[in-house]
Amino acid sequence: MEIEVRRLDGSELPAADRVFREAFGTVLGVALPADTRLLATRLLAPHTTALAAYADGELVGSNLMASWGSVAYFGPLSVVPKLWGSGVGARLVAAAVDVLDGWGAAHQGLFTFAQSPQHHRLYQRFGFWPRFLTAIMSRSVTGTEPALGWRMSAAAPADRAALVAACADVTGTIHEGLDVRGEIAAVLDQRLGDVVLIGEPDAPRGFAVCHAGPGTEAGGGIAYVKFAAVRPGPGLADAFAALVDACLGYAAERGVARLTLGVNTARHEAYRQLLAVGFRTETPGVTMHRPNEPGYDREDVRLLDDWR
Ligand SMILES: CC(C)(COP(=O)(O)OP(=O)(O)OC[C@H]1O[C@@H](n2cnc3c(N)ncnc32)[C@H](O)[C@@H]1OP(=O)(O)O)[C@@H](O)C(=O)NCCC(=O)NCCS
Repeated sequence: MEIEVRRLDGSELPAADRVFREAFGTVLGVALPADTRLLATRLLAPHTTALAAYADGELVGSNLMASWGSVAYFGPLSVVPKLWGSGVGARLVAAAVDVLDGWGAAHQGLFTFAQSPQHHRLYQRFGFWPRFLTAIMSRSVTGTEPALGWRMSAAAPADRAALVAACADVTGTIHEGLDVRGEIAAVLDQRLGDVVLIGEPDAPRGFAVCHAGPGTEAGGGIAYVKFAAVRPGPGLADAFAALVDACLGYAAERGVARLTLGVNTARHEAYRQLLAVGFRTETPGVTMHRPNEPGYDREDVRLLDDWR
């Protein structure tokens, strides 16, 4: 069997999506929600690269990489179940690592099944090491949560550029070079949701990149915090609580029933604050880092993401 790995062509997206759904449906024992759009939205985003594996010309797997400045991660990785164990997955990991290295990302990672030694072994071979759990958490939304903070979509185009720069400043303060402007652009350009901001209009204290509803990474009836961060400094816990409240308000405004988000449990204070306001873990996963360093997973960091 001849295996080739190359850039995923947009026209092959339906085939890649079928393989992605079959692979994860098989390993999870339940179909992925039909109305989430994960590969398509990322393929259109400015900060991602998608690779596909072909066996004798047929698309049999894919892997996506996302660049967050000095940080980058890959996933979802999937291979058609009939070929599991044939070396396709390892080829897609090797190619992904080349892309992350090519970007010069100093801190690299992935999210995987905490309970799967096979997954850990696969990634360890490439220098990724398991660290803390990342909890995918959710909370119900009643619809009565007040609208708080403000939305980037409502800003005039001229002000938007300054707000985006301010968000990059927040992330850069937490971890040098961390930059999720690609996620912000994806949400605003593709109308996947909005960016919720708190603090002073000319100097936001924190922001959350939210997807909401069908056709996004969230899916029907759900709002999902793809990334959120609060600038360190006095009043950090209160500012984080305000940002989470603002996300709940946004979810209520969108008429969804649940708010989902991810937090690495090494960000201990953030994790505890979420538990205290009623978030519960739906899916625990583990993040693996290359090199084996904490990155921005520190006790006091108020940052939400999950690298799925
Ligand atoms: C995980 C996955 C991508 C591996 O792809 P693959 O083509 O089977 O991988 P390879 O043949 O290159 O095998 C490399 C390693 O992967 C691991 N592996 C193989 N089959 C696996 C399976 N069914 N489940 C988990 N890990 C597996 C093993 O560690 C293997 O190493 P070994 O040969 O030394 O035992 C594939 O099983 C898959 O699509 N699974 C469902 C989706 C998923 O779990 N994606 C990754 C989420 S982080």
